[in-house]
Amino acid sequence: MISILIKLALTQITEAAGRDPALSEPRTDMYVCICHAVTDREIRAAVARGATRLEDLTMTLGVGAGCGCCRATAVALIEARLLQIEEPETSSIAA
Ligand code: FES
Repeated sequence: MISILIKLALTQITEAAGRDPALSEPRTDMYVCICHAVTDREIRAAVARGATRLEDLTMTLGVGAGCGCCRATAVALIEARLLQIEEPETSSIAA
């Protein structure tokens, strides 16, 4: 079950990496942290509010504080989201 969720998250992240951020939002929520019932949408929202590290998600949402199976996926979501946020700034600097 966990490996399926991780595979789905990585597929979404991979697909999102090369697209317009507005078009790369998944259509449905996916539970990333089963222990604390935290979805990918909640993690993206936490990053939008300033979370940049797994520890930020652990303190605010409990992600990774249980079995730990979600940690790698949560970190990948943070990194993917931060890249989406940073991309427009990088483009404007290069232009
Ligand atoms: S799935 Fe996140 S701590 Fe267990």
